[in-house]
Amino acid sequence: MPSYPRILVIDPDAESRAEVQRLLVNSRYVVVGGVGYDEEAPKLASEFKPQVVLIAYQEPVPLALRALQAVKEAAPEAFIIAYSHRGDIQSVRRVILAGAWDYISRPVNLKDLSRSIELALAPASEEREGPEPAVAAPPRNGRHSAVVTVFSAKGGVGKTVLAVNLAAALAEAGCPTALVDLDTVFGDVARMTRLTPQKTFVDAVRDIDSLDESNVSSYLSEHPSGVHVLPAPPQPTDWRELDPASAMRVLDLLRHKYKAVVVDTPATFTDLVVVALEAADVAPVLTTLDPISVEATAPVLQLLSSSLHAEDRVRPTINHTRPASPLSETDAAEQLGRRVSWVLPYDQYAGFRDEAGRPLVLCRSSTRLSQSITEMAASLAGLPSPLPAVAPAPAPVRPSAAERVPGERPSILRRLIRA
Ligand SMILES: Nc1ncnc2c1ncn2[C@@H]1O[C@H](COP(=O)(O)OP(=O)(O)O)[C@@H](O)[C@H]1O
Ligand SMILES: [Mg+2]
Repeated sequence: MPSYPRILVIDPDAESRAEVQRLLVNSRYVVVGGVGYDEEAPKLASEFKPQVVLIAYQEPVPLALRALQAVKEAAPEAFIIAYSHRGDIQSVRRVILAGAWDYISRPVNLKDLSRSIELALAPASEEREGPEPAVAAPPRNGRHSAVVTVFSAKGGVGKTVLAVNLAAALAEAGCPTALVDLDTVFGDVARMTRLTPQKTFVDAVRDIDSLDESNVSSYLSEHPSGVHVLPAPPQPTDWRELDPASAMRVLDLLRHKYKAVVVDTPATFTDLVVVALEAADVAPVLTTLDPISVEATAPVLQLLSSSLHAEDRVRPTINHTRPASPLSETDAAEQLGRRVSWVLPYDQYAGFRDEAGRPLVLCRSSTRLSQSITEMAASLAGLPSPLPAVAPAPAPVRPSAAERVPGERPSILRRLIRA
């Protein structure tokens, strides 16, 4: 990182602007100016050519976005970092689409700020040597779509709650999303989403010979959350004699048709689960803090990590399905022998859905669980975290040095939205 990078601060609130400037100056950054959302902003940007522009994202939002775009035009080389109280994914998305490189939450603290600036200005080689792998999985199929298979060693740990809410959060973020229920034992996505579907996964597999990209969507039911659902059949016996190769073909067609395919599974290694795990770009493996669940999960993580030949696809995830537990998250991580990617907080309404079947992330979006799942969707999609992370924090989302263009964050979601 070059020493003393030049920074321009844009914030309509003089007090907050002064506070951010003070923070920067005390940390030996060079502040080339501080302005509001007015025409001075692009003028200063074009005159002083700052390497980084920090901009407050707040009401009036149209003015904030206009200022951001004007500065981007005036100083296209600058990395724009927005800071805001607004943690919802739509706000993050608007700011990123308007041209910001990163998004941090307010009140601005020096740690987040300098981390973001350092990442923006890190030379390519330094960035490649970064300590953490990117959370967002690189698309394996070259088509910028991702299969997310939610799995666990034990039942009742929140797989369906996570799958349904994660799919809804991805759809809400503008990512065309399919949700597939491969739980051959308790396939209850349809019940959780209050859908009465006409067709199921089994129908799609049966019709595999006539199935292609043009008609695969007709097997899915559109849900009010925006998610397209391919549910399990009503009877567990309906799954009998399902050909795994045809099941893989169905998932392949879906991944060509949708930008994200979220798969719910049973807590057992059936042929179909193996197919879904092999197809996965990311597999959150859930455990509660129940000692038996943690004990059962450790060998499964090991097995998956070695058999999928890609440890970073297998993501240990702790779900607090109880308000208290004898085990701590740190103890669990130690027993699992792996860094925990995500932690989902306890919420007594976790399984809640409204009359239309819209899940928690949509109808109770401000709860901690909703925010964590929204944050998880954002990290999977390659967006910066919209909210302070729940400990232990997931790895930061980092664009690969080879792909990164100044001022542009090549997140998967950005590509998905624009594709
Ligand atoms: N974070 C959470 N907080 C509280 N209860 C939860 C949480 N996640 C899931 N649950 C509850 O745990 C139970 C099992 O969840 P479910 O998604 O059906 O598990 P699985 O699909 O793994 O069998 C449900 O009653 C659900 O509401
Ligand atoms: Mg389930």
